[in-house]
Amino acid sequence: MSKTGKTSTLSTRITRANETDIPSLLSLNNRYAAAGLTLARTAEFAANHLGDYRVLRDASGGILGCVSLDEYSPSVAEIISLAVDQDAHGLGYGRQLIAAGVELARTRGYTELFAVSYSDELFLSCGFERMPLSAYPEKISRYQKVDRTEIEVGEKHCFARRLA
Ligand SMILES: CC(C)(COP(=O)(O)OP(=O)(O)OC[C@H]1O[C@@H](n2cnc3c(N)ncnc32)[C@H](O)[C@@H]1OP(=O)(O)O)[C@@H](O)C(=O)NCCC(=O)NCCS
Repeated sequence: MSKTGKTSTLSTRITRANETDIPSLLSLNNRYAAAGLTLARTAEFAANHLGDYRVLRDASGGILGCVSLDEYSPSVAEIISLAVDQDAHGLGYGRQLIAAGVELARTRGYTELFAVSYSDELFLSCGFERMPLSAYPEKISRYQKVDRTEIEVGEKHCFARRLA
């Protein structure tokens, strides 16, 4: 049982994403973008990164959650697009998706994984540590072109986890 007192009764699994999942992935990720929790992604971005996504499916294959990796160098990647359907929050799925992202990062040979998030407790409980965003100048430079809110919103914190 999670801290929220809720338990999952659904039969779920985490799988790779298919092209047919793109509309659901975008709908899930982008619904949180207005609040600044996620960054809005385009169909083109999702298609180009399809192999980097992992999705949490319910018993009928519908998508309840997603996570993706964004590569910065052969050794460093960022966890992006972490999102769980509102009706399924607090059931441990966010934690499972982060674990799936960590596993994928290890498989790919990254030695460091980072995230920029408001969800401090979640990332700290998944083995990440607070890290100044200045440790990732390439993130700052990339997002100056994409979405400055990601680097300007003061409350968002940067977290990192060594994988080696
Ligand atoms: C952040 C998010 C992915 C977490 O997903 P989730 O499935 O609710 O998370 P979990 O159930 O795995 O919770 C993990 C921990 O987060 C915290 N948490 C999550 N939901 C919580 C809630 N409703 N109340 C209190 N704590 C909560 C708890 O610390 C929980 O720890 P526990 O497992 O010991 O109880 C989800 O809330 C979400 O989609 N948020 C909007 C998008 C977003 O903020 N993405 C993050 C971008 S980096």
